[in-house]
Amino acid sequence: MTTRPVAPPAAVLQRKRQSEMYARARQTLPGGTDSNFRAWGDDTVYVERGKGGLVWDLDGNEYIDLRMGYGPVILGHADERVDAYVNERMRLGVSFSLTSEDEVQAGELVKELNPWLGKVRMTVSGTEATMHAMRVARAYTGRTKIVKFEGQYHGVHDYALISVLPNDVGELGDPDNPVGLAWGRGIPQAVAATVIPARYNEMEVLRRIFERDGADIAAIIVEPVLGNAQGIMPRAGFHEAIRALTTEFGALLIYDEVKTGFRFARGGAAEYFAVTPDLATYAKAMGNGYPAAAFGGTSEVMSVLPDKVSHGGTYAGNRVAAAAAVKTLTILRDTDALATVHATGRAVQAGLKTVLEPRGLAYIFTGHPAMFGIMFAETVPTEYRDWAASDHELYDAIAVGMHARGAMPEPDSREPWFMCEAHAQGDIVDRVVSAFADSLDAALEARAHGETARAVQGAAAHPTAG
Ligand SMILES: Cc1ncc(COP(=O)(O)O)c(C=O)c1O
Repeated sequence: MTTRPVAPPAAVLQRKRQSEMYARARQTLPGGTDSNFRAWGDDTVYVERGKGGLVWDLDGNEYIDLRMGYGPVILGHADERVDAYVNERMRLGVSFSLTSEDEVQAGELVKELNPWLGKVRMTVSGTEATMHAMRVARAYTGRTKIVKFEGQYHGVHDYALISVLPNDVGELGDPDNPVGLAWGRGIPQAVAATVIPARYNEMEVLRRIFERDGADIAAIIVEPVLGNAQGIMPRAGFHEAIRALTTEFGALLIYDEVKTGFRFARGGAAEYFAVTPDLATYAKAMGNGYPAAAFGGTSEVMSVLPDKVSHGGTYAGNRVAAAAAVKTLTILRDTDALATVHATGRAVQAGLKTVLEPRGLAYIFTGHPAMFGIMFAETVPTEYRDWAASDHELYDAIAVGMHARGAMPEPDSREPWFMCEAHAQGDIVDRVVSAFADSLDAALEARAHGETARAVQGAAAHPTAG
């Protein structure tokens, strides 16, 4: 442990207006927010604005944003190129339930960057995209069941909320025979029973599942990395193995590229891992924060649309989202924005390494430089259950301490840090590294005094990740 004096937070976070807003919002919105994932109790953040890699809350506290809205903001907040284009297009009207050229162009760009795709359809959220991809898989194969991996998040529809992110991994059941754990009430047992939980990177368990239920399995849906659990990576050969297994049993492979798409590479994880799925879902980086999303697949699989499978949506392909996708994807195609994102992620990791190594802590960077986690563990994690064995309390304390020092990662170790193009500007990388160093030292010092680091950093427990 370091002996240097620990720098106190640069400034005490102001909370006056946010506390008032929290009290007001709770009268109307459950938990004072529109999403459970943003309900941080007394520490709930109310945002005023963002620009580039920075964000300001209602009290004027400035943070380097490492959440980037859970991943969509790949270029930076309030990107003038995207916003100007969206503004120009939206003046023509946004919602007709008629199809515009913007939608066709957005679809063409999604295909151009993911050349294996035959057909795509836009949706408004990643949740809708995974829901429709699962339905298409069921319709195409005539089978009912979907295999999903523990610790993977595919949105908030009923079929996605099985074995997602329990704090107590014991609830996931026997490692050789995982149980389907519904996240929260209200998910019909009949629906839950159609989703088979498996363990990421564990081919033996997966093969047993297929040997038992293969005739009923329509698809495996997989986040190519555990994007909602520190970005845990596949073992060498894992993606090839699940591709081969699905083919062997006549099931489809769905890549949920909501986090990895247009981020790991222009062609997402399919390009990065050089594996071709049958269906894929996109959102987040597709529209730099506008609600653009899509699902797509080979022409053969997508041929069940439009006649045999229901898909629609009043806002599907609305002009705001479609124009945002057109501009964002054009920038990603024609500039070196993604190379910048990746280089900046590597620079942050290099800086963190210079902080971590002298302190002798066992740590592992999980994920990809564009989207990475920091895990305090001796061995490389391979599945969600490994998260429990890591020192995630130390991570959480550091993350919370960083907020007080002007950088905002998610205060839950499961959510990776997201890099955007604008993080390359100014001294952002250095500021992130020094906020991390000071927060780490504060957390270690608190621990040495037997205090819970989180209490010392002055934050309430964050209920969940996602
Ligand atoms: C991998 C993945 N799939 C699906 C979703 C759901 O997307 P949305 O929040 O747009 O509904 C998310 C959201 O975080 C995600 O990370």
